[in-house]
Amino acid sequence: MDYLKVIGTQKLQGSVRISGAKNAALPLLAATILSSNKLHISNLPNVVDINTLLELLQMLGATYQKKNSNLDIDSTTINKTKATYEIVKTMRASILVLGPLLARFGHCEVSLPGGCAIGQRPVDLHLKALEQMGAIIEIKNGYIEAKAPNGLQGTTIVFDKITVTGTENIIMAASLAKGATTIINAAKEPEVIQLCEVIQDAGVEIKGIGTNTITIEGTNQKLLSMKDFTIIPDRIEAGTYLCAGAITNSTLTVQNVEPEHLSAVLSKFEEMGFKILKDKSSITILPTNKVKAVNIITTEYPGFPTDMQAQFMALATIAQGVSIIDEKLFENRFMHVAELVRMGADITLNGTVAHIQGTPNKLLGTDVMATDLRASSALVLAGLVANGETNIHRIYHLDRGYDRLENKLAALGANIIRNKEA
Ligand code: EPZ
Repeated sequence: MDYLKVIGTQKLQGSVRISGAKNAALPLLAATILSSNKLHISNLPNVVDINTLLELLQMLGATYQKKNSNLDIDSTTINKTKATYEIVKTMRASILVLGPLLARFGHCEVSLPGGCAIGQRPVDLHLKALEQMGAIIEIKNGYIEAKAPNGLQGTTIVFDKITVTGTENIIMAASLAKGATTIINAAKEPEVIQLCEVIQDAGVEIKGIGTNTITIEGTNQKLLSMKDFTIIPDRIEAGTYLCAGAITNSTLTVQNVEPEHLSAVLSKFEEMGFKILKDKSSITILPTNKVKAVNIITTEYPGFPTDMQAQFMALATIAQGVSIIDEKLFENRFMHVAELVRMGADITLNGTVAHIQGTPNKLLGTDVMATDLRASSALVLAGLVANGETNIHRIYHLDRGYDRLENKLAALGANIIRNKEA
C-alpha cells in the first residue's frame, strides 16, 4: 500500500489542468450498454473507479481500448447480465449498470452494493422506481434479481429524496422503455445533465433537462445510436485544487473547468475573503490577508456540494473564528474530523453539525489515515499547512477519484511524494 508524505508549510503557484468528471464518466460508461454501436469517449479521468467500471463492463462482454484519457468502447458484445459481488463491493456506483442491463436484456443480477465509510448508502429508491416501471425485483443472497420480460413501461416516478445515481439509473432505463417516463424530484447535477444530453443526442426525446422534472420518451427496446462525446470537467477536483490555493493562501489557477458548475463553492471562497477571477474555462483564486470563518450547509446541486465538505473543513481550520458545517446528505461523512483533530484542529461534532474553531498556523504534521475519497483530499490539504511532516496512509481511497493528485500538486510547488508502506 502507498502513503503520501507532505511537508508543510508551503506556498503554491501556477495552474493545473482539471481532468474529466468521474461522476459524469461512470453513468456515461454504463449508458454504453444501451448503444447499438461502438463509440469514442474523450477526457476520461484516469482514476481507479473508472477502471473498475470498465473491468465490470468487460466481465459482462464489452471490449474497449483505453489510451490515456481516450477510450474506444464496444458494449454491443455484452452477453452476460450478472454484476458480481467481487467487483460491486469495490465500487457502489456499479449499481449504475442495473437500469441499462434490465432495459436492454429484460433481466439482470446486480450485487447489492455494500455501504461505505460515509454511510449506509441504500438503493431502495432505485428499486422502487424500477418496480413502478413494471420490473419484478427480488433480493436473493445479497443480489438484486431484476426481471422485465416484456420490457419496461414508461410511467411517472416521484423520488422521495433527490438521488443522483437513482435519477441516472431511471433515465437510462426509461430510454428503452415503452412510452414516456416523467421523473419528479430528479437530481440536476451537471453530471445528470450530461447523461441526458448524450442520450438525447442518440435520438431519445428528453424534456426538462437540468430541472427537477424530466420526461423521457422511450424507444420501446430499440437500442440507441450513441454519438462520440467528451466528459465534462470534474467540478469537485477543481474545487479541491482551489482549496489547496486557499489553504496555502496562494495564487492558483484551475484550467479546463466550467465555472458555473462551481457557483456555490466560489461564493463560499469569497465569503471567506478570497478573491476569485473567472473566465470561460478557468478560475483563479487570489490570497487574502484575513481568512474569515464560514457557515456551510451541504445540499443538492446547485447548492453547496457534500463532496466539497471535507475540503472546506480543512480550510476552516486556518480561518479566524468559528465555522459551522452542517452535513445534510450523508449520516457519517465526518470521518476526517478525528484525523484533523489529531493534527491539532479544534473541531467539535454535534450530530450532523461540526463547529470548527480556527487555529491558524497551529496544525502539526503527523501520521493520519484516509477513510473515504474526499476525506483523503482534506488530509492532504491540511498537510500542506501543518508544521512538519504529515503522512497520509490508505490513499487507495484517494486514487479512486483523483487523477495523479500528488503529481499535480508537486507541479504547483507542493512538497509531496508517494511512498510505499514499509
Ligand atoms: C452521488 O452518489 C455521487 N456519486 C457521490 O459522490 C455524491 O456524494 C452524492 O451523489 C451526492 O451528491 C456518484 O455520482 C457516482 P445519492 P449517490 O443517491 O448517487 C439517500 C464522490 O465523492 N438515498 O444522491 O450514491 C442516500 O443515502 C461520491 O465522488 C436513499 O436513501 O448519492 C443519501 O443520503 C461520494 N435511497 C442521499 O439519498 C436511495 O435509493 C443522496 O444520495 C438512494 C439514495
